[in-house]
Amino acid sequence: MGHRKLKKFAEVETFSNVFQTHLFPEDGKVFPLKGKWKTDYFKNDNPITLELGCGRGEYTVELARRFPNQNFIGMDIKGARLWKGAKAAIEENLANVAFVRNRIDFIETYFAQDEVNDIWIPFPDPYPGKAQKRLVAPPFIARYRKISPARTVVHLKTDNHELYEYALEQVAEHKYPLLASSANVYNDATNLGVERFTLLTEIQTYYEKLFLTIGSKIHYAEFSI
Ligand SMILES: C[S@@+](CC[C@H](N)C(=O)[O-])C[C@H]1O[C@@H](n2cnc3c(N)ncnc32)[C@H](O)[C@@H]1O
Repeated sequence: MGHRKLKKFAEVETFSNVFQTHLFPEDGKVFPLKGKWKTDYFKNDNPITLELGCGRGEYTVELARRFPNQNFIGMDIKGARLWKGAKAAIEENLANVAFVRNRIDFIETYFAQDEVNDIWIPFPDPYPGKAQKRLVAPPFIARYRKISPARTVVHLKTDNHELYEYALEQVAEHKYPLLASSANVYNDATNLGVERFTLLTEIQTYYEKLFLTIGSKIHYAEFSI
């Protein structure tokens, strides 16, 4: 690990809005905020949106700025990446932001039934040929269902056409209601509608910017589970 990355990695340990307790389901230990995010951390009763594989947390931080009456939590395994979003939230006093560092595979150790109301998945690793590892594959959807009420909305944004097609296949196979889809977001304002188009085009993640510079089309699928 490079010097700058190491520094961020160490600093993120000290941030009051980052939780990295490395709990595993088999430990049997309970994460202290599980089921208590609203009362004990956010100190309000506002809904919680999760950003999964959040990297630098662009959606978490920008949605938190735009929607102060909602709570936002980004989750990623990479601490040096979370640093950027967590630092911005601290500097701007965004009390409606938190980050969790661990594998999404262990998400149920951090959130209780019905605790999460909305899920964003921007530019997840596409895992070619390894469908079950994709964040919209059945094992992950089953985990999300354990922490969110019925009809919670999942927002998938990706440059990867195969992953987009896979998500739409999952939607059809499991009869998840499809709320919106586009194979070329930036060219699809009318189909997506103003509100959605605004959030999808005004908020760009680190990976998205890289994909846009090489001319990739951005895909989006929104469905409820
Ligand atoms: C391609 S990057 C995208 C990051 C960010 N969303 C963006 O668009 O810039 C995928 C991210 O997902 C994280 N990730 C992938 N699988 C994960 C898992 N099972 N648990 C936690 N994080 C995961 C990686 O660490 C990485 O930061």
